[in-house]
Amino acid sequence: MDITRVCVVGGGTMGNGIAHVFALKGYDVTIVEAKQEFADKALAAITKNMDRQVTKGAITAAEKDGALGRLKTALSPAEVKGFQFAVEAVSERMDLKKAIFKALDESAAPGAILATNTSSLPITEIASVVKDPSRVIGMHFMNPVPVMKLVEIIRGLQTSDETYRAVHELTVKLGKTPAAAKDFPGFISNRVLMPMINEAIFCLSEGVSTKEDIDAIMKLGMAHPMGPLQLADYIGLDVCLAIMNVLHDGFADSKYRPAPLLKQMVQSGRLGVKSGAGFYEYPKK
Ligand code: CAA
Repeated sequence: MDITRVCVVGGGTMGNGIAHVFALKGYDVTIVEAKQEFADKALAAITKNMDRQVTKGAITAAEKDGALGRLKTALSPAEVKGFQFAVEAVSERMDLKKAIFKALDESAAPGAILATNTSSLPITEIASVVKDPSRVIGMHFMNPVPVMKLVEIIRGLQTSDETYRAVHELTVKLGKTPAAAKDFPGFISNRVLMPMINEAIFCLSEGVSTKEDIDAIMKLGMAHPMGPLQLADYIGLDVCLAIMNVLHDGFADSKYRPAPLLKQMVQSGRLGVKSGAGFYEYPKK
């Protein structure tokens, strides 16, 4: 099926980034948010990020205007009839994702592909609520979506070869590089990334080094763009904890136990950049 109309559910950091890249590549995109003020915030974030790309010369002002003209918002999937492709990018709650997939299944064009941007929840379980689970797939973008080249594509147990091929092709059309993973906890990206971040948090709490030196060692020593504690703040410590819990529960292996300090940071509301403080402080500008 020719994909021209895309529905992105969730306009937060990941959702607005996903809508941003689809709109820039010529797709008609509707962002579904629970409230109009959240939808307006998503459009404002996209405009700001596209302005930044115009300033840097990555896109032209005309490309920005064209993309913004292809973006709409809605308050439910039911308002967005006939889309051929949907990506869900809401918070990592299985009950919420299942409700959204049921609603998407009702409104999508026949044969539409329904993707989830989940960072670690099982695709197979999300797919269980729709009529045809062969059309459900994981399409895991990385933050910041307009910049990061990777899309991790995760096949649920019943995802068809046709769906996989279509999403692979779509990823390439978006100018991204696809890489495949099976539906195991944390897939590849977070099964490898999160234990590194968790271990850095153990090192901090055990006093092996300071946060600045832990980050400097990994940033300069391993050529990572950010140290693990800075990256954890950037991703969100609540998200990091949720993913460690998925790994711990999914594999029932103590090597994935979340660091007690990570739990405390989340309990104290220090969630990273988004809350203004995590391992580092982020004073409001
Ligand atoms: N939209 C558009 N452009 C953006 C942007 C955004 N949201 N954020 C950054 N950019 C652009 C900047 O304009 C800049 O463009 P030029 O190269 O043309 O100058 C470029 O990206 C670099 O940005 P900055 O100069 O502001 O800052 P930087 O060089 O420090 O890079 C960074 C910032 C891209 C975030 C970099 O630090 C980085 O790559 N960090 C690691 C990010 C990472 O690991 N992401 C994966 C997280 S894990 C995840 O997402 C999945 C999960 O499930 C948890």
